[in-house]
This record gives sequence, structure tokens and C-alpha cells, in this order.
Amino acid sequence: MLKAKSIYKSYGQLQILKGVDLEVERGEIVTIVGASGAGKSSLLNILGTLDRPDSGQLYINDIELSKLSNKSLSDFRNRKIGFIFQFHHLLAEFSAIENVCIPAFIAGVSKSDAEKKAKELLDLLGLKDRMSHKPNELSGGEQQRVAVARALINSPALIFADEPSGNLDSVNALELHELFIKLRKDFNQTFVIVTHNEDLANLSDRTVMMKDGLIVH
Ligand SMILES: Nc1ncnc2c1ncn2[C@@H]1O[C@H](COP(=O)(O)OP(=O)(O)O)[C@@H](O)[C@H]1O
Ligand SMILES: [Mg+2]
Repeated sequence: MLKAKSIYKSYGQLQILKGVDLEVERGEIVTIVGASGAGKSSLLNILGTLDRPDSGQLYINDIELSKLSNKSLSDFRNRKIGFIFQFHHLLAEFSAIENVCIPAFIAGVSKSDAEKKAKELLDLLGLKDRMSHKPNELSGGEQQRVAVARALINSPALIFADEPSGNLDSVNALELHELFIKLRKDFNQTFVIVTHNEDLANLSDRTVMMKDGLIVH
């Protein structure tokens, strides 16, 4: 599903990624752990095509992404990839359902089809009665679940999450982790998740450890 070869990235003089190799199979849940500053978020942003490496190759579904123009890359990202960030980045002036629909609108899905799918997802995530609420009318756990629904609306094959349960209490964190497992089981979606949460790392198929810009374990 995903293959990264010899990924390097520097910010100015500072070398952040020093030749990372990683392969992920379809339907696999891989967690990335490591100390703060190890380069986890930088790697995730590159794997998720939000950022480009200085050198190295990234293949998703056998497509070499460095060969795509920015426009093709953003279309690819919109259709194939879902993101869940630690801070949910919901748009404050839009309701839960409107936030969830936005990636579908960008993909050219009609309003009625997008809303139908968004309702299904919000229902699945236990937010049936919260659809018209704005983010500031939702709890932290509810906001994060809206962000999860938004990440899933275009049925991405590949989902990246950067400390998705970092701001959740243990009950909400557990529910989110169980949801990831269920989505993999039901839809064979592939997950790459940066986490400090040991329970989530233990639930995953494989954990890789990063240290000083390299995968060491
Ligand atoms: N846009 C940036 N510009 C400059 N330095 C950055 C940038 N993003 C990250 N860094 C630096 O790169 C290193 C790795 O950061 P990051 O990938 O966020 O690590 P982690 O997610 O493992 O905590 C840190 O030292 C950080 O300060
Ligand atoms: Mg980080």
C-alpha cells in the first residue's frame, strides 16, 4: 500500500529525517512511537503528501508521488488519504455536519450525497444528535470524532493520524482506538498512527520506533 525509501528532510541546517525506510501493507495498522523531536510528525506529513521530502521515494499504490504535479497530488490526497490531527482543526463557523462534508464537496460530490454519507458517519460515531452543533458547542471528544468523520467521508484507503487521542480522556481515547480497529475490520482501511498512547500501540499490528530522524526498531 505504502512504500517510503530513503526519505531525507532538513529544515535549514537541521537534518530532521535521515534516510527513513518504511513499508505498510493494505489493511495494516502501524503505530509510530518515539521521543518528542524524533521526527514523527515530519515523517507523517511526508507520508501523507502534505509535505515533500528533500530526497527519497514515496509510493502509494505503486504511484510514485514525486512524479505528480501539485494539482494532481492534492486531488490524490483528497480522494485517497484521510488525516486526523491532534488538534482537530474544525472550522468554527460551520456545524459538525458541514465540517464533515467539506472534503466531499472538494471531491465534487453533490450536496445531498455528501450529507447522506456525513449523517451515516456521524451516526456511527455516536453524534446523531449533535450534527447541527458548532465546534464550540461540542466536548473535546465529540470534536475529535467530528474530525474523524471528516477524515473518513471520502472513504480514504489510507488514514494518517498524529497523536489522535492526545487530547482525549481515557474513555474517549479507548473509543477512538476501538473505532480504528472496527474500520480496519469492516473496510480494510490502512492506518499509520503517531502515538504516545501505549494501549493504542499495543492494539496495532506493528509499532516502529523513531529516534533522531531514523526508524531504529
Ligand atoms: N517547519 C519546521 N521548521 C523548522 N524546524 C522544524 C519544522 N518542523 C519540525 N521542525 C523540527 O524538527 C524536529 C522534529 O520535529 P517533529 O517532526 O515535529 O518531531 P516529533 O513529531 O517526533 O515530535 C524538531 O526538532 C522540530 O523543532
Ligand atoms: Mg509530533
